[in-house]
Amino acid sequence: MKAVEIAKGIYDVGAIDWNIRDFHGYSTHLGTTYNAYLIMDEKITLIDTVKKDFADELLENISQIVDPKKIDYVISNHTEMDHSGGLARVMHRIGEDKPLYCSKLGHKNLSKHFQQKWNYQPVEDGSQLSLGKRTLVFMETRMVHWPDSMFTYAKEDKILFSSDGFGQHYAGLERFDDQMGEEIMPHAKKYFANILLLYSPLILKLVEKVKEIGLEIRMICPDHGIIWRKDPLKIVGAYVEWGQQKPKRKAVVVYDTMWHSTEMMAEAIVDALGQQGVDAKPMHLRKWHRSDIITEVLDSGAIIVGSPTLNNGLFPTVSDFLAYMKGLKPQNKIGAAFGSYGWSGEAVKMITAELEGMKFKVIDPGIKVQYVPDKEATQACHELGKKIAGELPA
Ligand code: FEO
Repeated sequence: MKAVEIAKGIYDVGAIDWNIRDFHGYSTHLGTTYNAYLIMDEKITLIDTVKKDFADELLENISQIVDPKKIDYVISNHTEMDHSGGLARVMHRIGEDKPLYCSKLGHKNLSKHFQQKWNYQPVEDGSQLSLGKRTLVFMETRMVHWPDSMFTYAKEDKILFSSDGFGQHYAGLERFDDQMGEEIMPHAKKYFANILLLYSPLILKLVEKVKEIGLEIRMICPDHGIIWRKDPLKIVGAYVEWGQQKPKRKAVVVYDTMWHSTEMMAEAIVDALGQQGVDAKPMHLRKWHRSDIITEVLDSGAIIVGSPTLNNGLFPTVSDFLAYMKGLKPQNKIGAAFGSYGWSGEAVKMITAELEGMKFKVIDPGIKVQYVPDKEATQACHELGKKIAGELPA
């Protein structure tokens, strides 16, 4: 990526990672970007870096605008290595003594990670830094996405540098929302569902705080994907909607299957849900990536999970999915379990216990079928679908 001027005197100097397909377990099937921002003012300032492998590209992009040695300040909004991995290389190039602004926890984390005695300048929530014509304001945003995370707000430009917040894993030549239209929203939704869902209560509080202080936002510049300039409040509104997790008349039937019996049950449940006007979909765990399933979980009112019993336990992909979903703490869900078995049949009970542990409203003891579902078992699956539909909002 070449440096792109995103506002007068402010450049995106980050990198496009076209080929990443697995981002710590999240399927980035279109790649991603690591955005970093250069502000040309009396004090030249770099906000965030990039993943280590892209540090030279970042420095090359900066060089199109200014000699990197002329950078006065570096701001690290977040310690995770997709934004700080290039920091050692950048500090070495621009001068190890340059002030490095970060949150207090950022100071702790960066020190532990890099074991370098850089010129750390830990900042308080709300503290300001003058660059000359511009003033930057630091906002603590713990757990969006790590304890150290913060946003940086350019007061005069009304630009919010939002680190992981409002990002999307999308690699493309487009830099702005108006170049993408609605096409960007599924990527933003998937990002929220897989990265931020568990922090929904904190995100809702953060949005309230931003409203209370009357922060005017002309542009939101995240560290991944496109920049929100046409309608920055659109993504803020979407975060409120996703964060509230109001259940829709929608269900996902997540399952794996050995010899198609559990699959037949999944499809019978989906048929019944569809007949009751529920937006429903079967999602086979070896055909769909867990991160795409979680995107559907986000606004579904019901999550129905099926597993065959394998070696007296759950099928491994089902265990993986349940562990992943548990960590993301989805709220306000109805749940139920189903599955086929040959001789022992523990899976349904185990899924039910997991769903209860996640505080789902489990509305049925679950359906166990030995070997292949017969007419009666298929009817039981239909009844389960109807029962779930009856519990979902109209
Ligand atoms: Fe994009 Fe939490 O790092």
